[in-house]
Amino acid sequence: MTSDPQDPDLVRLLEYLRESRGFDFSGYKRTTLLRRIGKRMAQAGIQDFAAYLDHLQVHPQEFPALFNTVLINVTRYFRDAAAWEYLRQEIIPRIVAGKERYEPIRVWSAGVASGEEAYSAAILLCEALGVSEYRDRVKIYATDVDEEALTQARQGRGQAKDLEEVPEALRDRYFEREGNQYTFRNELRRSVIFGRHDLVQDAPISRIDLLICRNTLMYFEAETQAKILVRLHYALNDQGFLFLGKAEMLLSRDDLFTPLDLKQRVFSKIPRVGLRDRLVVLAQASGLEPGDRAASTARLREIMSDALPVAYLVVDSGGVITVMNERTRILFGLVPNDLGRPIQDLEISYRPTDLRSMIDQAVHERRPVEARDVVRHLPNGESQYFHVIVAPLLDRDGAQLGASISFADVTSTNVLQRELERSRQELETASEELHSTNEELETTNEELQSTVEELETTNEELQSSNEELETMNEELESTNTELQAINTELQQRSIQLDQINAFMQQIMANFEMGVAVLDKELRVQFWNRKDLWGVRAGETVGHALLDLDIGLPVAELVEPIQKALNGPDGNVSLSLRATNRRGKRFICRVQCTAMASAEGAPSVIVMMEALAPTRGD
Ligand SMILES: C[S@@+](CC[C@H](N)C(=O)[O-])C[C@H]1O[C@@H](n2cnc3c(N)ncnc32)[C@H](O)[C@@H]1O
Repeated sequence: MTSDPQDPDLVRLLEYLRESRGFDFSGYKRTTLLRRIGKRMAQAGIQDFAAYLDHLQVHPQEFPALFNTVLINVTRYFRDAAAWEYLRQEIIPRIVAGKERYEPIRVWSAGVASGEEAYSAAILLCEALGVSEYRDRVKIYATDVDEEALTQARQGRGQAKDLEEVPEALRDRYFEREGNQYTFRNELRRSVIFGRHDLVQDAPISRIDLLICRNTLMYFEAETQAKILVRLHYALNDQGFLFLGKAEMLLSRDDLFTPLDLKQRVFSKIPRVGLRDRLVVLAQASGLEPGDRAASTARLREIMSDALPVAYLVVDSGGVITVMNERTRILFGLVPNDLGRPIQDLEISYRPTDLRSMIDQAVHERRPVEARDVVRHLPNGESQYFHVIVAPLLDRDGAQLGASISFADVTSTNVLQRELERSRQELETASEELHSTNEELETTNEELQSTVEELETTNEELQSSNEELETMNEELESTNTELQAINTELQQRSIQLDQINAFMQQIMANFEMGVAVLDKELRVQFWNRKDLWGVRAGETVGHALLDLDIGLPVAELVEPIQKALNGPDGNVSLSLRATNRRGKRFICRVQCTAMASAEGAPSVIVMMEALAPTRGD
């Protein structure tokens, strides 16, 4: 993005905003404008004005975001408390005293943003008049160019922190509270009329007693400020007051308003007819008196006239010079003999300004005519400046006697005034820039504060998650320790079991009997010896007893085993004919004993013992 205020792309963008949305930013201070638009563009991730214009054309929802950034809405209740206190003590009583009890009081808060300024004025007027008179007489017009700000303003709502500058007693009297939320009292809010009004483009509201236009003018270039001030001047009653912001000095139009208290930025209107009236009175006071005068009076007048600090001459109704003071003679090179000559014969009648037409106009309109900053170029190249006033001289009966002409040399004051004016303008611009930058900083600060608040919240959340994690970690650690202890115990038990198992295996290996353990489905769980039947544990474990071909009629064991499992004493003994692994037949004594396994499932121990060989074998 360029920082050139005349960048043609920026100019095109501003034109587009005016044509499409009616917002005319051309009179706003370019540096501030550039900064604010730049800020919004950066937020939207756009580098240059042309691309931003395209973006606006495709995304109309971008307009409010842009206007919100450009139109800085910073405001507060009783912002600059000392100035509002001055208003309360000095100005409002004067407005009230200057009116009859039934007369309306009209206030205009222009550039009201979110409304706090208008409600502050309402509070002061209500305090001065009482609720009932306030409701009957007061109208507060609260306007802004920013519709979104006005929507917020109409609600008259604020958080406790927004009302910090409202004294507690006033807060209780003028606001209704709901938790942390305060709302300006409804019946008083009705006297505040909100509406969109553009100070640059719209006609002013009229007959205003108090015009509050604070921290708004400073966003405009001097030329636009001057135009707005003419409108504000028109808006005010002749006895009206103008209340500006802390950084606004009104230097561009000090002929329209005069400061009542410059520090508090309160001004009164200068009614426009005043100056002319005063000049008429002046001119008549210095006019000719009818009748003859004593010589001493004539001499006195001559001396007095020579002593005047201005060049001064008088012409009679025929245009003949009748009075001319010394200063006129010196300045314009006239001689005593020029007295009694028609002015039109002399150079002074047309140089440095056309006196003849000024005399004609003053005589014809019967009022003083003035020309400011009339320049006279001297042969040495220097210039002189004069304030020329031509006033008609009227006799008591109103008859025209002639005209007086005065030349006040304003060269030195002019130079000083110009310099002063320039310095004052520069000072004002600098002060306004400082103030508006300050407002921008306040906005940025608010944004930063909310980011910090968000970060703090996130941080708190992270801390509490961290604490939870730490607790979980501690729990896991203690569970882990417990598990390790259990594991060690299990390992010990497993070793013990292995030992017991080995011990049992050894016992079983030395057992003369064949021992098999079956589950309730008669599947072999344990098998101790191979000698009797010639099969090893590996060939029997997991197989059904009925499937084993071991020389024992296993099918005959089914019933005794079921009896052992289901019978009352769990023990059944029987003898069966069997054949051993060498093919010898013998009587095998079998004992079936039911038992419950560790898991509670029934199983049966079958013990087989070879008795006597069968006869005939
Ligand atoms: C910084 S605020 C001042 C608020 C309040 N007057 C105060 O001093 O606390 C400036 C206000 O001027 C408004 N504004 C800017 N240009 C305007 C215009 N052309 N016409 C009317 N209001 C305008 C903005 O919308 C913003 O609300």
